[in-house]
Amino acid sequence: MEKLIYLDNGATSYPKPEEVYVAMDRLYRQYGVNPGRSGYDLCVYAGSVVHDTRTMLAQFFGGTDPNRLIFACNATDALNLAIFGMLKEGDHAITTNIEHNSVLRPLYHLWKYNHVEVDHIPFDGDGFVDPDDFVKKMKNNTRLVVVNHASNVVGTVQPIGEIGARCRERGIPFLIDASQTAGKIPINIDEQCIDVVAFTGHKSLLGPMGIGGLYVRDGIEIRHTRAGGTGVRSAIRTHLEEYPYRLEYGTGNLPGIFGLHAGVKWVLDKGIENIHRHEARLLTKLRDGLRDIPDVTLYCQDNLTEHIAVLAFNIDGFDAEDVGTMLDVDYNIACRTGLHCAPLVHEQLGTDSIRGAVRFGIGPFNTDDDISTAIDAVRNIEMHTRTNPARLSAVSRSK
Ligand SMILES: Cc1ncc(COP(=O)(O)O)c(C=O)c1O
Repeated sequence: MEKLIYLDNGATSYPKPEEVYVAMDRLYRQYGVNPGRSGYDLCVYAGSVVHDTRTMLAQFFGGTDPNRLIFACNATDALNLAIFGMLKEGDHAITTNIEHNSVLRPLYHLWKYNHVEVDHIPFDGDGFVDPDDFVKKMKNNTRLVVVNHASNVVGTVQPIGEIGARCRERGIPFLIDASQTAGKIPINIDEQCIDVVAFTGHKSLLGPMGIGGLYVRDGIEIRHTRAGGTGVRSAIRTHLEEYPYRLEYGTGNLPGIFGLHAGVKWVLDKGIENIHRHEARLLTKLRDGLRDIPDVTLYCQDNLTEHIAVLAFNIDGFDAEDVGTMLDVDYNIACRTGLHCAPLVHEQLGTDSIRGAVRFGIGPFNTDDDISTAIDAVRNIEMHTRTNPARLSAVSRSK
């Protein structure tokens, strides 16, 4: 089979560094026991890797207390823990139109069923929110500001530090969704006045699926919204208050943590700046190549300085899903089409009415050749399909 050109790194990174596969295989063969439950050697070793991973990730976000780094299943799970644990009836929250459904839906549920008010800040024509717009919406009962650090549709990196400073001045907790940035863009909770970071393991941290978490700054309250086993102090009838147990429930994802440990280590060894530089260079090449093709519309790609390597586009007159199918079937290029779990981004861009856009997501293992092939593929689709409409209807019929 022709080589797969994987440009769906916004959904999940693939492939993973070899070290991640090795760590996960080793875990199950050599250390696959339940950490923190007993005192035998294997158990202690497994527990020490969990603690090392907490320490490494806490430092990664500029945190000082490894116990305030809690593991969850993914960013969605972590965001649910934070959002449901920080808001209650009568509270007000501010978020943005840039958010993923993992933020929009918990907030919508709280609005619908728990009388939590929610304001959404729109983004400008380049894809950025204005920090001062948050101040205009702040009220006495504002208890949370939650912002997606970088859009998984248009790739823009939001001015987190400036938003954080405005929240800190007014004592309003600030939660960021770092799903697309952790591992690509440096994050520092002190410098950027962040109170809670939600992350996922399987994207730019290059770990496996099923692992993610939160870093919760000291002094920030998150109520536990679940209860269960923690492996320690089992006689206590209520769920433990202290971190990390406070927000962890039941047996953790040990293979996920071992894999994530290897993924984060790989990122640190390569250097976030180097990874970002490589991807940013490929993004510029992709943007410039696609921009030259007639009838291709790019979304928020003019200013690439505050940007991750995610690019959304449409070809005028083509359904995004058809373009995705042709890229897949004719060119063996994997990408993502549709609304990308971020419906308000598409509403604001006006692409909701044409069923979304095509998204390319570049990762550390992509090459110049991948990008050249993708540009040529889009050019060919635009040119040949337009002169041969029967091809387009065949693709549409095949769905
Ligand atoms: C910006 C953003 N937030 C949250 C998520 C949810 O991540 P997960 O599926 O790992 O929970 C994603 C995944 O696409 C995302 O891009």
